[in-house]
Amino acid sequence: MAGRPYIVGNWKMNGTRAMLSEARAIDRAAQRHMKVEVALAPPYTLIHAVHREVEQIGVGAQDCHPGIDGAFTGDISATMLADAGAKFVIVGHSERRVGHGESNDLVREKAQAALDAGMRVIMCCGEDAPTRDAGKAIQFVTGQLKASLPEMADAGERLTVAYEPIWAIGTGNNATTDDISEMHREIRKLLVSLYGEEQGSAVRILYGGSVKPDNAKAILAADEVNGALVGGASLTADSFMGIALAA
Ligand code: G3P
Repeated sequence: MAGRPYIVGNWKMNGTRAMLSEARAIDRAAQRHMKVEVALAPPYTLIHAVHREVEQIGVGAQDCHPGIDGAFTGDISATMLADAGAKFVIVGHSERRVGHGESNDLVREKAQAALDAGMRVIMCCGEDAPTRDAGKAIQFVTGQLKASLPEMADAGERLTVAYEPIWAIGTGNNATTDDISEMHREIRKLLVSLYGEEQGSAVRILYGGSVKPDNAKAILAADEVNGALVGGASLTADSFMGIALAA
């Protein structure tokens, strides 16, 4: 069985030091609601500052380079992120798979680098609208995950999967709870086939894509939904914790 509901905020390319007050407010609220695990993935420039400011919430990164330190101008290694206080890395977000042409192989290498640096992985997956409309969403997403997930013996502890239909990200159009549950059940079957019953059943599966305080309760109550990966609504403590408290 998956653990506590996991609510993760992905700040994307948003956040200057002025946003540290929101991180502190989220941390204070999370300390009062321990039944939910809350985490934030700020931009690289704020990871260490947020890590130093918070006590309860986890802090992570939105990406990492697949290699070890070296001559890669402008890149950030997993070991650097762990050194800055990151406890997890989001890999394979559609804004990188599509926006930066990241292949399944590259995403798997990034996941492996994060694991090798002692961090946990949040592996994103999701289909675009034409794939959904063609009735091929499950085939696409399970194929994407199978090609992106690393081999690991402790997936239940160190792997989280986030299903984020691309057409629901930032659009205000979240998937229906039936579609979410159907996809999450297929992802769960794949995880059990890859990692075995015990580990595969313990991996938390998050939904992402226009999660807001007013739809969070229904989404988080859907079958095989173990939490949410939240973009826009994670930028303020009020809206983000409004989602966390719906878990
Ligand atoms: O990673 C979470 C993100 O893709 C969802 O964004 O703004 O639709 O909650 P948003």
